[in-house]
Amino acid sequence: MTKKIGLIVGSLREHSFNRMIAEAIPELEASVEYEQISIAELPLYNGDLDRGDGPEPVRLFREAIQRVDGILIVSPEYNSGIPGVLKNALDWASTPTKTAALLRKPAGLVGATPGVKGTILSQQQIRQTLEAAQAYVLPFQKMYISQVMDKVDAERRELTDETTRKYLQRYVQQFIHWIDQVPALEG
Ligand SMILES: Cc1cc2nc3c(=O)[nH]c(=O)nc-3n(C[C@H](O)[C@H](O)[C@H](O)COP(=O)(O)O)c2cc1C
Repeated sequence: MTKKIGLIVGSLREHSFNRMIAEAIPELEASVEYEQISIAELPLYNGDLDRGDGPEPVRLFREAIQRVDGILIVSPEYNSGIPGVLKNALDWASTPTKTAALLRKPAGLVGATPGVKGTILSQQQIRQTLEAAQAYVLPFQKMYISQVMDKVDAERRELTDETTRKYLQRYVQQFIHWIDQVPALEG
């Protein structure tokens, strides 16, 4: 069966560079299906609301993650770390502990910034959060996109830089391969 990958963007901005990168992925690697999983409607995490299925946006968000074979997170870096909106979303997906949407879920990380360091620090924190939630984060491989404004056509919302396109395609292919390795890790 064709695999399905969930794309989660860690920015709520309409003209987000990271959203542009996420939107480029299906065209770069068409061997799988994709689903955009929005975090925009999630309330702030509150343990008092985290009962049963939780609030409707949370239920839909968790279900979307459970429906896909793996998630690719495409996120900016804020103040040398994970954007609050993304951390909030991952916290909702990390409970209830025994049946959490992130539990044993293959995950890959991509990040884009106008800066020169390519979201290294943000990705370290996202990885740490995902590992705490017992997701299987693709090891070793990294996908950092620096000076992103020079690599996209912002008006047409296209990733134009050929080298970045090639590396991103390779990263997604490695991630798809990683999804197949995960059952062996569980065995
Ligand atoms: C509050 C805030 C903090 C930021 N901190 C960083 C940072 O630590 N490192 C970085 O590379 N960019 C930083 N930026 C710049 C973002 O990378 C830039 O705004 C980027 O376009 C956001 O991603 P988006 O285009 O997907 O929304 C920061 C931006 C904001 C609003």
